[in-house]
Amino acid sequence: MTTKFDLVILNGVVVTASDIGKFDIGIKGHTLTPSFSAEEIAGAEIVDAEGGMVMPGGIDGHVHLCQDLKTGPLGLGGECADNFETGSRSAVCGGTTTIITFATQTRADEDRSLLKVVEAYSARAEATGSYIDYGFHVIIVRDDEDVLETELPVLVEQWGITSCKLFMTYETMRLQDYQLLDVMLAALKHSITTMIHAENGEMIQWLTEKLESKGMMAPYYHALSRPQSVEGEAANRTIVLAELIESPILFVHVGSSASAAVIRAAQTRGYPVFAETCPQYLNLTWEDLKRFHSPTCFENSKMICSPPPGPDSSDQDSLYLGLHNGTFTIFSSDHCPFKYDDPHGKMVGILEHEPSMRGPSREDISFPELAHNKVGSFRMIPNGIPGVETRLPLLFTRGISTGRITPQKFVELTSTNPAKLYGLYPRKGAILPGSDADIVIWHPEGTLPPFTLENKHLHHNVDYTPYEGMKFNNWPRYTILRGKVMWANGVLLGKPYDGEYLKRGPNQLGKGVAHFKKDPRRVAAWVRE
Ligand code: URP
Ligand code: ZN
Ligand code: ZN
Ligand code: ZN
Repeated sequence: MTTKFDLVILNGVVVTASDIGKFDIGIKGHTLTPSFSAEEIAGAEIVDAEGGMVMPGGIDGHVHLCQDLKTGPLGLGGECADNFETGSRSAVCGGTTTIITFATQTRADEDRSLLKVVEAYSARAEATGSYIDYGFHVIIVRDDEDVLETELPVLVEQWGITSCKLFMTYETMRLQDYQLLDVMLAALKHSITTMIHAENGEMIQWLTEKLESKGMMAPYYHALSRPQSVEGEAANRTIVLAELIESPILFVHVGSSASAAVIRAAQTRGYPVFAETCPQYLNLTWEDLKRFHSPTCFENSKMICSPPPGPDSSDQDSLYLGLHNGTFTIFSSDHCPFKYDDPHGKMVGILEHEPSMRGPSREDISFPELAHNKVGSFRMIPNGIPGVETRLPLLFTRGISTGRITPQKFVELTSTNPAKLYGLYPRKGAILPGSDADIVIWHPEGTLPPFTLENKHLHHNVDYTPYEGMKFNNWPRYTILRGKVMWANGVLLGKPYDGEYLKRGPNQLGKGVAHFKKDPRRVAAWVRE
């Protein structure tokens, strides 16, 4: 007998970016049908949501997997602990059904070709498979005119890569203003969204040297090398540069109220600025950079990411407000996993600083005890923290449950807007007829006793979580990818090759350049031709 549906989700409170209400959902093959009669569900697999919230699957637009990060001091400088298999496994157990990861150009001449970089990166994904659907951004660290002119159109047409990330910091990756303009203009011509890591690299470098000259090298001082103005200045400069050529711009991992204020002001003028913030900026502070053992203990390197979290909860309040009032378009993890007890992970911060400790083979050394007596050098510590699995449950617990954001806003920030911004809507990010049946279902309110997170609960390949010991009051109960139940009641049911590569279209949130007051001397009129 052919059934009308393969899977039905009954008794859920369905939440979309605009609405909330009690609906049942039918799934045939990969796609959704939100309305049907009781007779039509004969033969279908049934998921009873028991009154829990049912949302479109999470889309995490900022995930570093399998990325070669050996880029040296003031850079990333370590080895990504998660590959596509382990990173996507972690994602799906936390309610995420789509990730967008970074294919990274380097300054080495053999990496000039973005197409070759993307092909090599795609082979990494294919080597292990991905539990969930995935797409790529490209990180561009050079402004080779010929490459930009000939390869960007191929990236868009053949690969569906419609976003690039540019760095203003990290010595080995950053672009100067001249180069930023070059790449932003080339991206604009091909309707590629420019994502910017806005921190003033020279200020950071100068402050780092000052701190080092005073012996202030412990992980905690990483935060002192990056005061608010480092982000605020770079955000402001980015908007000036973008406005020169009338290019929309997307700020990733915004970590401070200074930067949020600059972004908000531009948006208020009608300038098309999009912005992302991440869990670390809402849940960690400088106190966490002093949390372990003693304020100068190297173990605090576990918390290092750029930009750093703010000094106290006042920045968090501003950032929550930004989630609520639309300053932020998306909420992503910036999952950038480095192991702690690993010579290619956070320990690089000791080994590069004290080469004598390397010994004949770095692999032979066991670190934890040793590290407690060391401060290492924050300059050398790989930047980044894991968080792809905790992204949604953290925002649910601390955003929805506290009333700081509505369930609809949660869906907008974590699924619908990322889908629109990165050209995946309405295939992704929606509960509409014909959309992919990507769904996350939460425990009905009050049925999951609040619990304390431990790293052993998580499914990444990292030996710690920054959120160890935090209380959670909900967690995804089911994650469904294109109609397949991947995660149910704490059991992983999916497989590493369930995920598919996603070709994406352009930004669907609008260019918006019609609305801001243009300079009568505007150069964009001729420079863009
Ligand atoms: O510290 C961070 N954010 N590491 C990841 C790389 C990046 O800049 O996004
Ligand atoms: Zn970045
Ligand atoms: Zn990142
Ligand atoms: Zn210690």
